[in-house]
Amino acid sequence: MCGIVGYIGDKNATPILINGLKKLEYRGYDSSGVAIFGKDKLDVIKCKGRLSILESKLKGNMPKGAIGIGHTRWATHGEPNDVNSHPHLSQSGKIAVVHNGIIENYIKLKEFLQSQGYVFKSDTDTEVVAHLVEYHYKGNLIKAVMESVNEIEGSYALGVICSDCDSEFVAARKDSPLIVGLGKGENFIASDIPAILEHTREIYILEDKEIVSLKKDEVKVFNILGAEIKKEVFHVTWDATSAEKSGYEHFMMKEMFEEPKVIKDTISPRIETDKIVLDNVKITSQDLENIDKIFIVACGTAYHAGVVGKYIIEKLARIPVEVDIASEFRYRDPLLNERNLVIIISQSGETLDTLNALKESKKRGAKILSIVNVVGSSISRESDNILYTWAGPEIAVASTKAYNAQLAALYLIAFDFAYKRNRIDEATYKKYINELKDLPTKVEEVLKNKKIIQKFASKHFNSKSIFFIGRGLDYALSMEGSLKLKEISYIHSEAYAGGELKHGTIALIEEGTLVICPITQDDLVDKMVSNIREVKARGAVVMVISQKRNASIDKVADVVITIPDIDSLVAPIIAVTPLQLFAYYMAVEKGCDVDKPRNLAKSVTVE
Ligand code: G6P
Repeated sequence: MCGIVGYIGDKNATPILINGLKKLEYRGYDSSGVAIFGKDKLDVIKCKGRLSILESKLKGNMPKGAIGIGHTRWATHGEPNDVNSHPHLSQSGKIAVVHNGIIENYIKLKEFLQSQGYVFKSDTDTEVVAHLVEYHYKGNLIKAVMESVNEIEGSYALGVICSDCDSEFVAARKDSPLIVGLGKGENFIASDIPAILEHTREIYILEDKEIVSLKKDEVKVFNILGAEIKKEVFHVTWDATSAEKSGYEHFMMKEMFEEPKVIKDTISPRIETDKIVLDNVKITSQDLENIDKIFIVACGTAYHAGVVGKYIIEKLARIPVEVDIASEFRYRDPLLNERNLVIIISQSGETLDTLNALKESKKRGAKILSIVNVVGSSISRESDNILYTWAGPEIAVASTKAYNAQLAALYLIAFDFAYKRNRIDEATYKKYINELKDLPTKVEEVLKNKKIIQKFASKHFNSKSIFFIGRGLDYALSMEGSLKLKEISYIHSEAYAGGELKHGTIALIEEGTLVICPITQDDLVDKMVSNIREVKARGAVVMVISQKRNASIDKVADVVITIPDIDSLVAPIIAVTPLQLFAYYMAVEKGCDVDKPRNLAKSVTVE
């Protein structure tokens, strides 16, 4: 979703903003722009399309000034075009605003401002903020922003500059992420850390309804009532190169090759002398006896990790689990109480529906345990219990390594809960812990299959529609495989439970239709073989992903991608990788923009 960068210091702001925005491209956008405080006035340059178009507009015409705000827009109100792009200027041109989020009462505010003579140029909700700040501005920018945000309903991360103020700019946030970067003689704002990491590692993570005044040598944070707040400095430890491609053609490929490491980083610090120790999780055996139901709530790929979580927690810990899409869960008045545990899963920790589902669950007294990748994100800060996935920054819009890490976290939870509830004995517990320890080497093995998958993709990238079928945990995997393919290759695809396909959808199978089948569940192999025969009888071409021990499936399938032998229960963590590679190569063969697929955003901060 929209990305924001702001700068104040001694240097020319424009290149700093553009470089920062490039680091936020992964969030997804359709237009971009900058506003620079030049000589006594604000220069705004913005346009529809990729940042490269903005850069060519800036060539030979680069505004110079030491204060500026920049933006990448992911359209919500009004189509992507030059006028709707941010920054937006107020009526007199005195105030410029960039915004991420949605102003829910913008129509009411717009009507009020129109009655005061303000004329609107764009279809956006954001333009309201520019005029509103101007309406309240009586020579004190921070006061005007405070009065404005007091009238705004909805979500916002805002950067505001004013042509009267050559030494200060203002930022604010509610429900949309925003950080402050603390430099020497210069300061920054940004939607995410990679945007400013080349300048500073010291940051403030802003909380909801905090408003900041940034000067080149001073940053002051206030609450909505105007009282100054003392913030803790957060030191970023990860390396700037983890947000670089490091020689890979795409971030997605680089991130798949990081899977062995992220699985290891997520698992090994939590295994101490053959026992699982979940740091930052204060759920005791006694608590577990009192929990009569678990809900897993998430969106997108994180939701698919949750589907695996349901299978394994129910199977091992014997607690009923419901898995829900966050946007549905929030509005379906779920039956929640203090005997329930809600497991929230989110890579970014900022997905608005997931965050609001968490808040709703807390309100109803449920315990919360969040699996989050981004340290200090909104979801992590709202949660009593957190299990971080140590996947590092994930830049490609399509999630890969974060999914493997989410599964690793869910397996730790399932084994820990099962053991604490005495549902598995010591020997089984140890066996599973050893399986977890072996995962990184096994994923390395799986990644070696990339050439076979590439070859298969090069033959089939023109497919119009592809089906994924699986049973049990393989059905959960099929959902993720199908989503990955749709996201980046734009090929229509559906995931079906192996036994369900014949209840309607098999009508769509015809000569040459591609069907992908993960088959990793030993007790379901025979059933899946029958399902393969059914689709093959109707002309399908079948690719199977299975353990080495099942290699004889090649008698019924057209291609078998083998993964190392592994216990069926933990197989999804390594069996997803061929599905990710398949989606990747299909997209590359089709010439798609793999890391930045059309219409998608990495961090979905609107409903
Ligand atoms: C977007 C991203 C997906 C991601 C989903 C949930 O749709 O494109 O890759 O799975 O949001 O994001 P989260 O950050 O909450 O895991």
